[in-house]
Amino acid sequence: MRGAYLILGATSAIARATARELARQGYHLTLAGRDMDELQRDAADIRLRFSVEVEVKPFDAEDFAGHAAFLNGVVDDGGELDGVVLAFGYLGEQTRASQEFAESLAIIQRNYTGAISILNLCAEYLAARGRGTMIAISSVAGDRGRQSNYIYGSAKGGLTIYLEGLRNAMFHRGVHVMTVKPGFVDTAMTYGLSGMFLVATPQAVARRILKARDKGVNTLYAPWFWRWIMLIIRHVPETIFKRLKM
Ligand SMILES: NC(=O)c1ccc[n+]([C@@H]2O[C@H](COP(=O)([O-])OP(=O)(O)OC[C@H]3O[C@@H](n4cnc5c(N)ncnc54)[C@H](OP(=O)(O)O)[C@@H]3O)[C@@H](O)[C@H]2O)c1
Repeated sequence: MRGAYLILGATSAIARATARELARQGYHLTLAGRDMDELQRDAADIRLRFSVEVEVKPFDAEDFAGHAAFLNGVVDDGGELDGVVLAFGYLGEQTRASQEFAESLAIIQRNYTGAISILNLCAEYLAARGRGTMIAISSVAGDRGRQSNYIYGSAKGGLTIYLEGLRNAMFHRGVHVMTVKPGFVDTAMTYGLSGMFLVATPQAVARRILKARDKGVNTLYAPWFWRWIMLIIRHVPETIFKRLKM
């Protein structure tokens, strides 16, 4: 029998697709997020389709003080964990964020601070068991600051650096940490955004995540071609880059 995974931000479209791929492989799940009705519906659907056990837990990335009790509750009710998938995030609005600090803070908390708060705890939990997998969704937006989304991008960039260090630390304690950097994915987050290209489905991204996990990949661009797109974008000289409208 397979073990169990905790999915944080489980109502995210990418998380839902990943949860189904994990359930297909026989893993039991705890779905955690803010919308309990939606999570209950999803859990019922997964139980029915894949005959695995699915727990549901309320989780708010910004409730830092509650994260330790949350993780204890997940293990008490769902059993020992083999892996964690962190999928929550918030794109926000760059223009509003540059004028209202509350929007900047929401972007930072929901992509960076909240992730560190819960991942620190998950890492210590898995390291104490000497094994496990942590999969966290960052973004290509964190690879270079751009005028169109530099507050979101800086939060994701911070998360990416955090995950690099965590991977290094956890390697010595038996836990694998994988950073996922999607390009454009067709989800609620990007609904109605203009200028999107090469848009992937959440299902394709989820399949790629699990294949990469099995190979022990450290940083996954999804789809793969974003590695090369971002390589080019990162190497445009600043004197040219600052003149572009990106
Ligand atoms: N879609 C893309 O093109 C794209 C590209 C690169 C990276 N990403 C990243 O991929 C991840 C998944 O996003 P998605 O595209 O699947 O978007 P999504 O469907 O909009 O999902 C975002 C998720 O984050 C959750 N969330 C937001 N604030 C939260 C909080 N304070 N506490 C707990 N959960 C919270 C949302 O929960 P509620 O339902 O409660 O709001 C929702 O489940 C995110 O980290 C995103 O930044 C997405």
